[in-house]
Amino acid sequence: MLHKNHSLKKLNTFGVEAKVKLFAEVFSLDELTNLFADEKVDREKILVLGSGSNILFTKDFDGLVIKLSSSDIKIIDETTNTVLIEADAGVIWNDLVKFCVDRNFGGIENLTLIPGTVGAAPIQNIGAYGHELADYFDSLKGIFIKSGNRKTFSKSDCRFAYRSSIFKEEFKNEFIISSVRLKVSKSSKPNTSYKGLSDYLSKKEIANPTIKDVSDAVTEIRRSKLPDPTKIGNAGSFFKNPVLSENSFRSLKAEYPDIIKFSSDSGQIKISAGWLIEKCGWRGKRTGDVGTSPDHALIICNFGNATGAEILEFAMRIKEEVANKFGIKLEEEVNIF
Ligand code: EPU
Repeated sequence: MLHKNHSLKKLNTFGVEAKVKLFAEVFSLDELTNLFADEKVDREKILVLGSGSNILFTKDFDGLVIKLSSSDIKIIDETTNTVLIEADAGVIWNDLVKFCVDRNFGGIENLTLIPGTVGAAPIQNIGAYGHELADYFDSLKGIFIKSGNRKTFSKSDCRFAYRSSIFKEEFKNEFIISSVRLKVSKSSKPNTSYKGLSDYLSKKEIANPTIKDVSDAVTEIRRSKLPDPTKIGNAGSFFKNPVLSENSFRSLKAEYPDIIKFSSDSGQIKISAGWLIEKCGWRGKRTGDVGTSPDHALIICNFGNATGAEILEFAMRIKEEVANKFGIKLEEEVNIF
């Protein structure tokens, strides 16, 4: 059913107000096809929402917002060592993690508690604590908005990269993901090499963690560092961690020996955006109801009744400070609308 002049305030984790001309909650691919056939729907102006945990609305939208609410999780195939699972786009990501952890299926436990839905997960190739969705991804199904054609995408079709995929680039706002298949393991050992995670486990004296131990550890680490979006409006990391060439990294390191770096693949070095922002003096900084979290400078929060435009303005000031101090251009991880 189409709702007119609908508020999106409860449908985005920043909790900002924005009105949309038409809104529909949809439970299946067939319902989507029917919706596209409705003469009130302009296919040029469609936006799909999962749980709104990676989007910042800065204005009203004169089109249709679709919320996908299909919620089934099925085991499709099982071998001695692997399990192929299919989850509908509307499944809450953490419910899929729990489904796996409860059955001792290994793989996505490091991605425990990431907000959002299964359908949104491939778009930015969600990741945390040393793993990303692409590591366990098998395929996905969905529908092209303009043509109404249905398609299955294999892993290579998706062109996964750090916090990116074909659905954030070439097919941005053109394809609706309706279900995702993941291949998880019945025999793998958890990966606890990410520093924050290994430090936590050694502090707790857990030497051989089970999949559940890792999931519990990630839950506690996230809860201690990241503000709960049901209490304080936020969308996780606002910016991506920037990737530098070895040369740029070396000259920065000479000036800032305590700079924090992550992986180093193909001659590129990823550094911590949170650290850069903190070094500019912006951790815990606040203007009105907008501010960075006191515990993590990469998380921009709505502490009350901030508007999307105010949050964006605050983010742009951070970008400017980081560019002036370090000569690095931060790129948004959150989708700005
Ligand atoms: N740090 C600072 N100051 C800060 C924040 C962080 O110095 O204000 C330092 C920390 O001390 C730590 C390092 O930066 O040494 C990394 O911090 P953290 O482990 O929190 O990871 P991150 O790089 O800031 C990324 C993801 C998160 C994910 C964590 C854990 C991106 C953009 N963000 O954050 O994902 O949970 O790693 O794996 O890649 C998200 O995408 O929304 C998200 C929260």
